[in-house]
Amino acid sequence: MVEVKSQFIRLSLVAAVVGIAGCEMRPMHRMTPRAERRESAAAKPVATDSKSPTLNIETKPFGETAEGQPVRLYSLRNANGLTADIMTYGAIVVSLQTPDRKGQMDDIVLGYDRLDDYIKNSPYFGAIVGRYGNRIAKGKFTLDGTEYTLATNNNNLNHLHGGVKGFDKVVWDDEPVWKADAVGVKLSYLSKDGEEGYPGNLKATVTYLLTNKNELRIDYEATTDKATPVNLTHHGYFNLTGGERDILNHVLTLNAAQFTPVDEGLIPTGELTPVRGTPMDFTKPAEIGARINNGYQQLKFGGGYDHNWVLDKRGSGMTLAARVYEPTTGRIMEILTMEPGIQFYSGNFLDGTITGKEGKVYKHRWGFCAETQHFPDSPNKPSFPSTILRPGEKYETTTIYRFSAK
Ligand code: GLA
Repeated sequence: MVEVKSQFIRLSLVAAVVGIAGCEMRPMHRMTPRAERRESAAAKPVATDSKSPTLNIETKPFGETAEGQPVRLYSLRNANGLTADIMTYGAIVVSLQTPDRKGQMDDIVLGYDRLDDYIKNSPYFGAIVGRYGNRIAKGKFTLDGTEYTLATNNNNLNHLHGGVKGFDKVVWDDEPVWKADAVGVKLSYLSKDGEEGYPGNLKATVTYLLTNKNELRIDYEATTDKATPVNLTHHGYFNLTGGERDILNHVLTLNAAQFTPVDEGLIPTGELTPVRGTPMDFTKPAEIGARINNGYQQLKFGGGYDHNWVLDKRGSGMTLAARVYEPTTGRIMEILTMEPGIQFYSGNFLDGTITGKEGKVYKHRWGFCAETQHFPDSPNKPSFPSTILRPGEKYETTTIYRFSAK
């Protein structure tokens, strides 16, 4: 599929400067000149005029955790009137308003109105997942001769999404980010050595930027003082109708000729299987619901789509991973990433027991997640691209959601 040109050129330049143009399968430690990040320390007050919106950031308190930690909400707005509300608890995107083909703004992510509901019961709505997104088999891995044991918080069997208290359940430090063509928030979290069983003090930062190109860009960075697995991702649940109905009519394209099949516990078998001739084939646009209940064994294991696709990558830069089109509103979401994989999850565990924002009931498959990532269980699968970050290295990866309508 398409290699996105402007990103590709920019990243190629960066790659040439630091000499990593050769294409390693895993573009984890790309160095970005710090100078590129023109972040100012304090929020600049910018005049607000709803008729001709300008870039803007507003912040407000958003409650506190049970331990009394205050949580803040950032409201970002770009020059075209798109808005993103992001809170410091879980680095969660609470709301994301984008236009449909008539210019009508709607909130296209699932979530709650109040912090307490996120704390009480959230299937990772809108959160940053870490230290390791998705599963690690039996909560065990061996690194440099030492065996580590993690929580088996997924049916008492496997480790899922960083454990009992992952990055989705902690309060991040925050800093506004102002750029000429974007506004954002830089969130930082120190995950201490031994937290959730993982080795090493991991300093993680996640910068969300809402750009005037109608993109929500997520830049991830991390460093460690001991070797550790790292696999950060964003667990947004999207519904491009604005939450009006389930996502089965959304038309999905995935730039992936292979996926990683799983066992009953959704742990990859280690194989890469061609999608051709199976309901996993989204190389050409297809409705998410068209084949979801057709009895294919992998879909039975996942209760629908809940699998990692192996992205067709050319080189180590950003590539277009996925495109989702919603025909009734015309909304289009494109996903670009440096990651080698994407977990496409069709909201199979949503069952109508959650009432979300504005009293909307989230029934079966009311949202989809498209988690750009390294492959699940990589610490136990030597043939998969490595997720190990070592002292002196820098984890750097970017994912972009680009919105339009037609
Ligand atoms: C990921 C997992 C799913 C599920 C959801 C959240 O997509 O692969 O199995 O855990 O997160 O419910």
